[in-house]
Amino acid sequence: PIILSQTSFISSDDLTYPYQERALQFGDGIYEVIRIYGGRYYLLEEHVNRLFRSAEAVKIELPFTKREVTDLLLELLEKNNMNEDGKVYMQVSRGTAPRDHVFPKDVPANIYAYVQELPRAEEKLQNGVSVITQRDVRWENCYIKSLNLLPNVLAKQTAKEQGCDEAILHRDGRVTECSSSNAYLVKDGKIYTHPETNNILHGCVRMKVKSLAEDLEIPFVEEAFHVEDIQDADEMFLTSSTSEVMPIVNVDSEKIADGQPGPITRKLQQAYDQDAG
Ligand code: PDD
Repeated sequence: PIILSQTSFISSDDLTYPYQERALQFGDGIYEVIRIYGGRYYLLEEHVNRLFRSAEAVKIELPFTKREVTDLLLELLEKNNMNEDGKVYMQVSRGTAPRDHVFPKDVPANIYAYVQELPRAEEKLQNGVSVITQRDVRWENCYIKSLNLLPNVLAKQTAKEQGCDEAILHRDGRVTECSSSNAYLVKDGKIYTHPETNNILHGCVRMKVKSLAEDLEIPFVEEAFHVEDIQDADEMFLTSSTSEVMPIVNVDSEKIADGQPGPITRKLQQAYDQDAG
């Protein structure tokens, strides 16, 4: 067929992307972002496990076992001579088929993954970042790492336009997580973060930070904190594969404590560095 592409008419054969791809038309797919340090994956097994959980939740059939995809991901690093700090983005969509909300029959999933260099954010890890708070207007299955990221994109863009790095999201005042990371508040020596319900992504770094906190004998309380608790917080931080353990020093233009990363955040950063190193 002839297709309207931008403002020209071209043959569908000349389109450089598959226009009937379900990821493009419905956001019908899932993804993972996996950290690489010095050419080696960090928390690979956790990411592969989550990929399978997401696939099951949205009923996408994966054409490989966990072992097989792990081997493919390792081979991807080798083929790219990846020896630096970086990340892999992997996406799985339900496939390509004429547009219909109903699942297509006998159509294979479309899968791709690519490697990208990504230096650690040294300066921000040292000094911390500023964030804003925003309502969490996402759906009720945020534990699925779905391609439907429009609310996340809009929240992050609003943060950016206000000179900030992240948006802390809340439902009726209860903080869930950030637009692309998990959120934590430290008060009286305890770390508070939203429990692993359907309302947050079960972060791989969150899982790691929980075990590091336990090793350090810092209480890790899986209870949501409230937006109004932020003004009295001793420390705050966020975590993700790309941001690591990132201090938050300013929320909605108000300093957290003295506006410097706090001692518990620093301890977790050190423990994380050792684990990732
Ligand atoms: N984001 N919450 C959300 C909404 C996320 O998108 C992410 C990760 C996290 C942290 O998960 P993990 O610790 O497994 O990286 C929490 C990735 C990095 C992204 O979308 O780019």
